[in-house]
Amino acid sequence: MKIEPFLTEQFFTDYEFSAPYLLASSDCETMSIEALLDLSGSSLAALGQVTLGYTESQGNPQLRSQISQMYDAVSAEDVVVLTSPVEGIYLAMQSLLEPDDEVIALRPAYDALSNVARHLCRDVRDWNLVPTGNGWELDLDQLAAQIGPQTRMVVVNFPHNPTGFVPHPDQWKRLVELVRKHDTWLFCDEIYRGLEFDTPILSAADAYDKSIVLGGLSKTYGLPGLRAGWLVIRDAQLRDELINWKHYTTICPAAPTEFLAGQALQVRQQLADRSKAIIQKNLERFEDFLGQFPDLFVWRPPTAGSVAFVELNLPKLGFDSATDYCHHLARQHGIVLLPGKCLGFEDRFVRFGLGRQSFATSLQAYSKVVSQQVSARG
Ligand SMILES: Cc1ncc(COP(=O)(O)O)c(C=O)c1O
Repeated sequence: MKIEPFLTEQFFTDYEFSAPYLLASSDCETMSIEALLDLSGSSLAALGQVTLGYTESQGNPQLRSQISQMYDAVSAEDVVVLTSPVEGIYLAMQSLLEPDDEVIALRPAYDALSNVARHLCRDVRDWNLVPTGNGWELDLDQLAAQIGPQTRMVVVNFPHNPTGFVPHPDQWKRLVELVRKHDTWLFCDEIYRGLEFDTPILSAADAYDKSIVLGGLSKTYGLPGLRAGWLVIRDAQLRDELINWKHYTTICPAAPTEFLAGQALQVRQQLADRSKAIIQKNLERFEDFLGQFPDLFVWRPPTAGSVAFVELNLPKLGFDSATDYCHHLARQHGIVLLPGKCLGFEDRFVRFGLGRQSFATSLQAYSKVVSQQVSARG
């Protein structure tokens, strides 16, 4: 069966490993295996002792116990270790959804969150984050109007890619009340959790027993090459059904990844603090830049995460769409911004990534291009 093109990954495939100025990456600064092991007090020799036999399908019990400590109401039994975070979206939706089910999915969204649901179900409804004068708003009345006993799953992602939105605790409470009232599953992608600028967000795993929570080490902890991810599923029957699906995809996690993920979790606060410090510094630089071109960009600052979603004044930039603009920047100037269309949103937004050390250099290159364009257009 066909599935929609994965536009975000296709766009990155074209440019990520050739363009010099990556300004759209959602992961935070990474590190070498050696640096990680130094930080956690382990060693390359210890990694060398890891054997390469099959591992437990649900994940190493000690690793699951470490993961469960990131939540209040979760035990090691509730955790399923994955072979990559993105695998969790596929497995959860395959395990739960039938063609006649209705799904409500927050938009914009990382492609897999809506496309896998669309692949499986006929009726997937968009629930739009609303751009306001100075930020993004969750329209809970829109959700209340759409949700009903026919809704099998609501799909959200907090902290949100690409807007950096997190719900206020009162909004979070109302959302949980709505899904509880209709006995709906809540899929919450929390891969950017730990990057809140102020109060940490309550995990859906602690707020609602019919939640499925996706976590991983790719973004907040800067370790996407590890492919370490997990699901928290408190419902035992669903967990078993999902593990059965997992036997058809990856069977069990990679042994070296489980070892390194365990090391990373021992120092997770240090890793998250490092990412947050980079993001804050880059945000200051970015706001300085945006302040120089107030008529070209509409700025809605993120309140969490490592990305921001910026609206372009396309006529002033001389382009018809953000997609055309992004391809032009990548091909002519080696600068990578992600078009909002890849994330299912209007084609006048672009995503910036704030978690990399190289942000300053890449922004400088972009600033030069924008300045030249502005002076050329008079
Ligand atoms: C919201 C969200 N969920 C899941 C993923 C998948 O993470 P990974 O690429 O580490 O599997 C991403 C990656 O960009 C993401 O942004």
